[in-house]
Amino acid sequence: MQTITTAAALTAAIQEAKQAHKTIGLVPTMGALHDGHLSLVNRARKENDIVVVSVFVNPIQFNNKEDLAKYPRTVEADCEKLAAAGADFAFVPTVEEMYPEPVTTVYHFGPIEEVMEGPRRPGHFSGVAVVVRRLFDLAQPDRAYFGEKDFQQIAIIRNLLEQIKYPIELVPCPIVRADDGLALSSRNMRLSPEARAVAPTIYATLQQAVEMSEYEDVETVQLWVMDTLSSFHEVNPLKEGLCFEPEYFEIVDDTTLQPITDWSDTPGIVGCIAVWLDGVRLIDVIRFR
Ligand code: PAF
Repeated sequence: MQTITTAAALTAAIQEAKQAHKTIGLVPTMGALHDGHLSLVNRARKENDIVVVSVFVNPIQFNNKEDLAKYPRTVEADCEKLAAAGADFAFVPTVEEMYPEPVTTVYHFGPIEEVMEGPRRPGHFSGVAVVVRRLFDLAQPDRAYFGEKDFQQIAIIRNLLEQIKYPIELVPCPIVRADDGLALSSRNMRLSPEARAVAPTIYATLQQAVEMSEYEDVETVQLWVMDTLSSFHEVNPLKEGLCFEPEYFEIVDDTTLQPITDWSDTPGIVGCIAVWLDGVRLIDVIRFR
């Protein structure tokens, strides 16, 4: 595997691959790689001649400076994992290399960005779109791989591709979970051992919500998930001060991302949650239908 740090070197490598009529798979990441990312790399490896993985903590998608500062950075370990997974190129640019000019582009996505993460993280999805488009321009992939844990992000990228009309196949990949059910996330490494031990409660609660959806209405299930998590510390012995603080749990149409009111509203339904635990914001998704 070759580690590339400049846009010029990536462009040259891609040109060579294109001349040889090779297909290119791109896996955009912010590093701190775990098995969830590696599942994307493995899938890309199976489906393309050349696999490019970007490792770049994109400052313009963080609306919270502290979150950006605390974002784990483990580039050396990341490159070792990528080499072992069979990636061809790790693209690890600096901020100056990615953004030689100040970024002025703003993307709008309409209703799909007006729910869940959108209003809570102003500018986040536009920042994601700017970096993803730049990566598309540099890597010119045939396919791009994104994890379904960031369910709303996938809808945003799909919309971006419609806006910019690039013939890139978007490949959504299933969430990878720890044995105890916790969705893998780079943020999990910031949890204290006590918090990590109770974090699987999030997925367990979502699974119970799916069972409940067989006999309860949408609003009841939605409120039950919020209540169960926010009162968890009252009914379970947790370390002093440790508690779940759910920010939202939305039950939505899997394409429009708009909240549904009845299970018969639409055939594809998912539940998306954001929960604070131990100062860490965790998200997860479950399919209802
Ligand atoms: O999902 C992520 O890790 C990031 O949002 C992405 C797609 C790599 C863009 O920075």
